[in-house]
Amino acid sequence: MRIAVVYGGTSSERNASAENAKYIDGALRECGYETCMIPYEKDLVRTLKEQRTDIVFVCVQGKGHGDGTIQAILEQEGIPFTGSGFHAAAIINDKIVSKLLFERFGIRTPKWRILTGKDYGEGLILPEQIGYPFVAKAPSEGGSFGIALIRNEKELEKVADIFSYDDPILIEEFIEGDFYTVGVIERDGIPVTLPCVRGVELEEETENDDPKKLKVFTGAYAVREAKLPRQAVAQMEDMARKAFRITGAEDAARIDFMVSEQDGLPYALEINAVPGLKPRSLLPGEAAMAGMSYRELIEEILLSAWKKSERSVHKEC
Ligand SMILES: Nc1ncnc2c1ncn2[C@@H]1O[C@H](COP(=O)(O)OP(=O)(O)O)[C@@H](O)[C@H]1O
Ligand SMILES: [Mg+2]
Repeated sequence: MRIAVVYGGTSSERNASAENAKYIDGALRECGYETCMIPYEKDLVRTLKEQRTDIVFVCVQGKGHGDGTIQAILEQEGIPFTGSGFHAAAIINDKIVSKLLFERFGIRTPKWRILTGKDYGEGLILPEQIGYPFVAKAPSEGGSFGIALIRNEKELEKVADIFSYDDPILIEEFIEGDFYTVGVIERDGIPVTLPCVRGVELEEETENDDPKKLKVFTGAYAVREAKLPRQAVAQMEDMARKAFRITGAEDAARIDFMVSEQDGLPYALEINAVPGLKPRSLLPGEAAMAGMSYRELIEEILLSAWKKSERSVHKEC
């Protein structure tokens, strides 16, 4: 089997994607697979064909890339690939659409509103519906880009930056508490959760000058064991499996939560279709807690996709 590890993304996520690819490529080679690393560029399909690619390991992230775009191209060309298909990836990459689905299917998510650039420009932002502090987010960004914490009226002007990423944007109730995440991998078509972990922002990148230590959204986390009541963990696992199913995610995804200090309840923030897969990333950290090595995790994701592609070939025959 010849595997192409394809990486790239919007400027905000390109570096992270290339780094993921390097580690994934290394792990696959150690497993004995023939691999090559290919940047996502215009002539991607030609390059994949020249390389006689059997399957693509998708590392591409962000808008115009891992948001269903590369998935649609590969589906059209009939090239098998890891992770969610184009439809699921597009849904998942839109935080507004994901939150609509979460609410519709009983997955608790922070209170939110949509805000258009026009309404913001006309002063029609109504933070009293959400309350301060709140979070302003670009729905199609990831990796902690296009996100700002608005603590009070004076900080409302920070919302303007978020419109440089998307319009409309999402404004969301700030959940004071800790960040947790649950990875889901597909085993024989069944979504299985990895251990829930707490993500702790890496010290050196955290500005701790704020008395309340409000988060600075660095996107860089250390993995810690989730020391929470069993019920809260079970709720996150349920919500994660459900989010995986209702969005149509495939092979592997990661669902992010805040657990509120106030009521002790988990609130789902988002689902990631192309989660970070460096050995020190959150999902591999969870796998390690389940006794799975990095290599085993990467190979399991690959084989989940490969088996499906083989089944669909048999169906066509
Ligand atoms: N409503 C919220 N309340 C508290 N913290 C939040 C909230 N939304 C996001 N965060 C923090 O910001 C980080 C990034 O937000 P997230 O919605 O997961 O976007 P992305 O990871 O795609 O950038 C989260 O991991 C969390 O630490
Ligand atoms: Mg996140």
